Amino acid sequence: MSTKIFAHRGASKYAPENTMAAFRLAELMQADGIETDVQLTKDQVPVIIHDETINRTTNKRGLVRNLTYEELRQTDAGAWFSRDYAGEKIISLDVFLQWIKKTPMLLNLELKTNKFPYPGIEKIVLQCLTYHGMKDRTTISSFNTDTILRFSALDNEIDTGFLTSRRPRQLFSLMEEIGAKALHPKYRLLNKKLIQDCLQHQVPIRVYTVNQPVYILRALEANCDVIISDVPDRALELQKGYIT
Ligand code: G3P
Ligand code: MG
Repeated sequence: MSTKIFAHRGASKYAPENTMAAFRLAELMQADGIETDVQLTKDQVPVIIHDETINRTTNKRGLVRNLTYEELRQTDAGAWFSRDYAGEKIISLDVFLQWIKKTPMLLNLELKTNKFPYPGIEKIVLQCLTYHGMKDRTTISSFNTDTILRFSALDNEIDTGFLTSRRPRQLFSLMEEIGAKALHPKYRLLNKKLIQDCLQHQVPIRVYTVNQPVYILRALEANCDVIISDVPDRALELQKGYIT
């Protein structure tokens, strides 16, 4: 199987991350999939945003968990990036799924529970995926092992990935314990040892966030299952020219 290229927060080098503009661009570039982040609003709506606050990526301030979906909709999520994108909105998971299910793309939903646990987020996300018939095209990932454990307990079929920026002791028994089916390591962790170990344990590697050609090529050479990149066009281009 050849390596799939996923657009990280959409094609986020070229358009404001986690907005429809960035997602549409990823589709236009013919990315194989999209990686995006989910958090919960005050009124328990799953929304697509990376940070726990809206400070960096909108024109307002506050914590996502203290604001309602309606309040988030009042913000501008594009102007911070460039005036050309003024008017982009924070979207709900529901709106996003409604769109992506009509495309051929795969999906990696990252549950952002590393700072706030957002009790109930796993169940809410699963209901949303089931409603939209997206379960078999989706991977759930998280840095939070409890989240993965809870998700696999709710649905053992759905694909799950353990996100990590360092190699923990007993990596593979930890993954087995929590029911993680793939490893999502930071690109700097990708070395011969890790590649060999994953191969031996039959654990797919989906590496993030790979933007520089040298690391993209390394991930292609390692035959990673997925490369998650802010520049999916660059990764796809390098893949075309890559001969094993
Ligand atoms: O899922 C890969 C990557 O998105 C994890 O880190 O902080 O960019 O969400 P972050
Ligand atoms: Mg992410």
